Order: sequence, then structure tokens, then C-alpha cells
Amino acid sequence: MSMNKGENLKFMSNSPADTAALGCRLGRLLGPGDIVCLEGGLGAGKTCLARGIAKGLGVDETSVSSPTFVLAQEYRGRVRVYHLDLYRLSSSDEVEEAGLDEYIWGDGVAIIEWPGVYVPLREHDRLMVEITQEPVSLRRELVLTPYGQRYRRLLEEMRPC
Ligand SMILES: Nc1ncnc2c1ncn2[C@@H]1O[C@H](COP(=O)(O)OP(=O)(O)OP(=O)(O)O)[C@@H](O)[C@H]1O
Ligand SMILES: [Mg+2]
Repeated sequence: MSMNKGENLKFMSNSPADTAALGCRLGRLLGPGDIVCLEGGLGAGKTCLARGIAKGLGVDETSVSSPTFVLAQEYRGRVRVYHLDLYRLSSSDEVEEAGLDEYIWGDGVAIIEWPGVYVPLREHDRLMVEITQEPVSLRRELVLTPYGQRYRRLLEEMRPC
């Protein structure tokens, strides 16, 4: 695992365990109302990262699975954790019709895979994580971008001294 400097934080992961460990570090810093958006293609490692984030929030990691078909899962950690996957939805209206906006704007931690379809998120403070997969490799690049002061501070905590 390595990283560079700047407002974005960039990490290289060499294995699923690396990705989950990064998630766990991040999860330890999260609290009520936080929103983490996970971008990246099919199989990039979003659910793997979400499992680590949940673990860092005190959730039993074996309870974390992909919400692709159920749209949303709730876990109990030191705060409530809402793990959402918007892949099967195609508009902001559909997100709201499914009642998922209440999880996103609620006072738990929201972890959202495929967040792009829900337009209001684009204007809202959040931490964005983009995962890029190298072909035929276990390597993943993870770029963490803060939107808003809360998340800039949070990334400062992720930066090594
Ligand atoms: N460095 C890595 N980090 C994370 N996952 C990795 C890595 N290398 C290989 N993998 C594998 O890639 C797959 C990632 O699956 P995962 O379900 O986390 O992806 P996803 O981005 O959530 O996919 P989807 O778009 O279907 O929701 C797993 O099979 C995992 O073992
Ligand atoms: Mg997934």
C-alpha cells in the first residue's frame, strides 16, 4: 500500500486484504451522518472496500455482502451503517421511490456503490472513492477525494505523518 500527497489521497492496493484494510482505517474515522461514495467498474472492489469500512465502524464483517439485488443493507456497528447499491436504479426519482434517500441523508453512515445516478449527491458534502482496476491483476488504484471541509479534515487523518 502506498500513497502520494495533495488534496486527493491516492493509494495502491495489491490484494483484496489491502483494500479491506484501507477501508477499515477509513471506517474508524467515520461518524453519524457521513457519506462515502464508491465509484469503479464491475468487480473493482467497492464491496470489498465497504466491508473494510464497516469493520472499522465496528460491524461484524461477515455480515457485509453486496446489496446489488436488495438495494440497501443495514448493519449495526458503533453507529448504524447503511450500505447501498444504486446499480439497478436509473434515476434520482427511482432512488427516492425506493426510500433510499432517507438512508443517505439519515444520521447513520451511508456507504453508496454506484452513486452516480442520484443527482443530489453531486451537490452534497461527501467523500468520493474511485477505484481503478488494472487488467488481469490484483492491483487497484484508490483515489479518495473530499467534497467539503468535514471530509478534507478526515483525509488529513488518513495522511501519514
Ligand atoms: N486489490 C483488490 N482489491 C479489491 N478486490 C480485489 C483486489 N484484487 C482482486 N480483487 C477481487 O475483485 C473482486 C472485487 O469484488 P467486489 O464485489 O468488491 O467489487 P464491486 O466493485 O463491488 O463490484 P460490483 O460492481 O459488482 O458491485 C473480488 O472478487 C476480489 O477478490
Ligand atoms: Mg459491489
